[in-house]
Amino acid sequence: MKFFIDTANIDEIKDANSMGMVDGVTTNPSLIAREDGEFKDIIKEICEVVDGPVSAEVISLEYEGMVSEARELAKISDNIVVKIPMTIEGLKAVRTLSGEGIKTNVTLIFSALQALMAAKAGATYASPFVGRLDDLSEDGMGLIEEIVDIYGNYGYTTEVIVASIRNPLHVLNSALIGADIATIPYKVLKALASHHMTDKGIAAFMADWKKKENK
Ligand code: E4P
Repeated sequence: MKFFIDTANIDEIKDANSMGMVDGVTTNPSLIAREDGEFKDIIKEICEVVDGPVSAEVISLEYEGMVSEARELAKISDNIVVKIPMTIEGLKAVRTLSGEGIKTNVTLIFSALQALMAAKAGATYASPFVGRLDDLSEDGMGLIEEIVDIYGNYGYTTEVIVASIRNPLHVLNSALIGADIATIPYKVLKALASHHMTDKGIAAFMADWKKKENK
């Protein structure tokens, strides 16, 4: 299973990369807005650090604008994946960009039929948002099961990026379902690595070692 990191913060990306946990990066306008600097400079720096796909989102909402922004973003690096919102205009843009060999990530997917349409349009990746569905007391992981089943039924090559991850259980369930990718916030990535019994075990080993040294 691939781990993408869901952040535009270069320090977080570098740290996660040094753990060997970064198969790719996803950003969105809200994540970019938290960082200093120009959008394209931030994305360029991320592409220089990461050996894998880096999603950068368009701001335009209509077909022409999306396609022209996407073409500009694609020039930044071979790593670039253009994030396109799941709308009818977005699907048209994905179809065009896919024909030009520009990789796309259809974002803000909240239903299996939206995911099916993204795949039919030729999306490289589809990003269903589990956390935001759970926030509404809906079944985020149920949506992932449906999409994985549908793509499997018809052999679509569009990869499923489980997005809007809030906690380690989302990552565990993504892996159990067989989703291709989880895009994980830095804080959740660190939480995956920790267990109170590991901490307790380390403390006990260190205490015993000190006793041996003082013998
Ligand atoms: C990633 O592609 C999404 O933009 C991101 O996971 C959204 O997460 P949020 O629901 O926590 O904003």
